[in-house]
Amino acid sequence: MLATFLDTSDSWITERTGIKQRQIMSEGESLEALAVEAAKSAIENAGVTANEINYIICSNTAKEMLAPTLSSIIVGGIGTQCPCMDVNAACAGFIFALDLADSLLSSGKAENILIVCAEEPTRMVDWNDRSTCVLFGDGAGAVVVSKGGEECTIKTNTVSKPEVLYYRGALQPTPFQGEEECTALRMNGQEVFKYAVSSSLHDIQSLLRSRNIDKENVKYYLLHQANVRIIDAIHHYMKVDECKFPRNIAKYGNTSSASIPILLDELNRAGGLESGDWLVMSAFGAGFTSGALLIKWDK
Ligand code: ACO
Repeated sequence: MLATFLDTSDSWITERTGIKQRQIMSEGESLEALAVEAAKSAIENAGVTANEINYIICSNTAKEMLAPTLSSIIVGGIGTQCPCMDVNAACAGFIFALDLADSLLSSGKAENILIVCAEEPTRMVDWNDRSTCVLFGDGAGAVVVSKGGEECTIKTNTVSKPEVLYYRGALQPTPFQGEEECTALRMNGQEVFKYAVSSSLHDIQSLLRSRNIDKENVKYYLLHQANVRIIDAIHHYMKVDECKFPRNIAKYGNTSSASIPILLDELNRAGGLESGDWLVMSAFGAGFTSGALLIKWDK
């Protein structure tokens, strides 16, 4: 389908990215509805009620409606009232949201936190730019996190390189400033590729060292699904079996911060996770932001 309007081919996309399909929202569908659906599904699966959620964090990079927040729409969509906020750490947003949730749980300000990552990157790209538009898909993933033991360590970081990957939305003109043009997503793919591999490796290795956990004792490494070659490079350098790196990028493309919660949900619903399993999650995004989490699964 893409090759009918772009100078591209299925074989190029498959070989260079590992992506075979992506889901793109159409007329009549909305990011808000997708986010609420993911939220409801996570609440049901967690076995809590909407009224037991004391905080909602929504990770989102770009959307049509900037105010109110997407999280405030989700509060109404699941039929409750609670504090909420949006975070934007680009594709690393899920890890940054988990870091905030960890602080809220540790301080006793909340007991059950709903994190929803909802992204529509297909509205950020220029559909004439074959080097970016083929990479992305829309999606939402959600989790409910509750206070457990001490078996969770999170590391986040930002190296400021805004020029390498950015999207610029348009603001209203004022009597003092003219109208600005929106700039579709611009990306230096090779720079992103190098940063993705080096930051993920660094984050994962330092987490494992900090908890003195052997890399072989981690059941799964859930990596941001941006390019299958990035995932391959990370498992190659780590010298860990490929089966510890589950992937679903072929089905969804890069869904930005939603990619890890979607992957986690698929693994969980397929019965792939057991209480006591060590999991690592690692993501990188525009900024550059990066973050990783080491957690003992307990459900
Ligand atoms: N179809 C056919 N040819 C293409 C396409 C396409 N869709 N896109 C680019 N090309 C061409 C280029 O124009 C170039 O042609 P040229 O040699 O005539 O100039 C050639 O393919 C090679 O281009 P490269 O950019 O060198 O290709 P590369 O192997 O680096 O792959 C890619 C490009 C897939 C973007 C890769 O660099 C990558 O995945 N980088 C990481 C990007 C990423 O993760 N982005 C996510 C951003 S958001 C986030 O998750 C942080």
